[in-house]
Amino acid sequence: MIGPGSKALLMALALATEGTMLLPTPAWVSYAPQAQLARRSVVAVPLDPAAGYALDPERLQHALQKAAANWQRPDMLLLNTPGNPLGSAQSADALRACAEFARRNQLMVVSDEIYSLTAHNALGSASMAAYYPEGTVVTGGLSKHLSLGGWRFGVAILPPGAAGRELAAALQIVAGEIWSCVAAPVQHAALAAYAADPAIAQHIAQSARLHGARTRVLHSVLQEFGVPCPLPDAGFYLYPNFGRWRAVLAQRNVHTSAQLAAHLLEKHSIATLPGSAFHDDALTLRLSSSYLDTEQPAGGAEVFAAFARDADDCINHAHPRLQRAAAALAEFISGLGS
Ligand SMILES: Cc1ncc(COP(=O)(O)O)c(C=O)c1O
Repeated sequence: MIGPGSKALLMALALATEGTMLLPTPAWVSYAPQAQLARRSVVAVPLDPAAGYALDPERLQHALQKAAANWQRPDMLLLNTPGNPLGSAQSADALRACAEFARRNQLMVVSDEIYSLTAHNALGSASMAAYYPEGTVVTGGLSKHLSLGGWRFGVAILPPGAAGRELAAALQIVAGEIWSCVAAPVQHAALAAYAADPAIAQHIAQSARLHGARTRVLHSVLQEFGVPCPLPDAGFYLYPNFGRWRAVLAQRNVHTSAQLAAHLLEKHSIATLPGSAFHDDALTLRLSSSYLDTEQPAGGAEVFAAFARDADDCINHAHPRLQRAAAALAEFISGLGS
């Protein structure tokens, strides 16, 4: 199925199916509100930061029991790997274990893999569909993997067989009543984007490498000061945890992640999103390095050419905003004390 963005397809999936949804958290901002709009209950499955936020069947089992205590029987598991806000991906082992759990408990898995083509290492491109093909819907889209932010075009790859056909029919009813079709110019753009053009494939690979280099700049600042943060595997997000500095931050009237984000914006000119936006009550933030970072007149093309010539030199000299953000972040963290 295609749709005007994978967000619309995820909403259609929430409308076209029924039952309680298991949602590992921290989770992207729209899954729970979409479930609410579709009048579905959500059972959060908090992932463990100390275990690198790895998906874990024991936690899923615990969530099933919690749901059962409220007379609920979850039918769907929503996964997002590589993840927003985490920036990291689930390992093949974690996906395999989760697939077994889903099969045993007859859960349909919606696997939002919209960041997989921005993977900067092998881990970032593992797919749940490899381990649970009969029960997984994979979603993705152009806005992330081709950095075409405004060109909303999503895909949902449905399971084979009767279950997939039934789901397709249900989704077509939702699509037919809400968006009718993807706007024709965007469909033409998608035809070009998915035509296996080597130049586009090279652009995607080069963009992924650039995202990797940029996220590592911020990750190394966090590491230098001992801020726990998963190593980014794909895309452009980092998810540091400032819980260690809770007492120091409290002296500055910062008690929640929302207050921490406001503090960073006001005092250090760093814009972030608080962990609370992702259903996380820890002192976490989502950093994003996705913006086009050039003050050169030639724009993005020049950054790509410079990155291909000498990646380190390009990151050090042609990414002024990233370097300023890294310095501001270092200043903030060093001010917290050890
Ligand atoms: C995890 C995730 N899924 C889905 C989307 C929606 O993408 P789109 O509707 O542009 O396909 C986004 C961002 O907008 C996202 O971060």
